Amino acid sequence: MFTFTKDCLIGIADIDQEHERLFELIAQTDATLKSEDDSVTQAIMLIGELKQYAASHFAHEEAYMESIGDLELNRQKKEHASFVAKVNSYSFSGVTDETAKATILELLEYLSKWLMGHILGSDIMIGQFTTTSKSASAEATPISNKPAIPVFTDEFLTGIALVDEEHKKLFDIIGKVHKAIQTELVHDKFDSILDIIGELREYTCIHFADEENYMREIGYDGLETQEVLHQMFIDKLNDLDLNDVDDNQEAYLYDFLEFLQNWLVNHILKVDKLIPVK
Ligand SMILES: [Fe+2]
Ligand SMILES: [Fe+2]
Ligand SMILES: [Fe+2]
Repeated sequence: MFTFTKDCLIGIADIDQEHERLFELIAQTDATLKSEDDSVTQAIMLIGELKQYAASHFAHEEAYMESIGDLELNRQKKEHASFVAKVNSYSFSGVTDETAKATILELLEYLSKWLMGHILGSDIMIGQFTTTSKSASAEATPISNKPAIPVFTDEFLTGIALVDEEHKKLFDIIGKVHKAIQTELVHDKFDSILDIIGELREYTCIHFADEENYMREIGYDGLETQEVLHQMFIDKLNDLDLNDVDDNQEAYLYDFLEFLQNWLVNHILKVDKLIPVK
């Protein structure tokens, strides 16, 4: 199970403290289940506490994001809502202690993984993309909802040759997606945009596998976390909903693209750059 480490720190004291407390509650529930009598009843109470604490944490985080004009707010709200829905989908009434225990352990596993992925995949971006600031790597101020094309600069170098080469190629493909949305949408050649997104998906998988192999080779202890983050990103790429896209192609695609590049930029700067150079 994942626990809070210094890598989870996003640099906003109140939010960091709340994240730490959430991990503590998960660990406490786990320890309770593995201890003596009455542990299931107590664990169920702790799950209730965890639910409440998570709800108030999400409210704090969203209010903070709103106050700084964070452009990722809507996406974060959706992710928080999916967490709440998942926790609420579990019911422990009318089941045996044994079933409840197994269910809670499964839930705790999911929660710790989700929390780690969410903190390092989304919360880590808080304050990076706001109405008053923009990414250091973006070449121009976005016009309306159109994100700026990310440019690969030295600040993204990890020092691991293969990884750097592949990150550069990912930036190139994202540049191609931008171009395709701009030129192809005019002619409604939606298929060719999807082809390039397909290329991005394929290359992302190749890159993640290579990066993970490198981390495995050097015995890096951050491998498991990276695997979770990579999988979450692949899931997002696979989530592209074609029905939604048909309605308002441009806005949808730019929103999707913005998420992909913001995620990638942050992942490289805050997570990949921690990987030691062999
Ligand atoms: Fe969050
Ligand atoms: Fe990477
Ligand atoms: Fe990575």
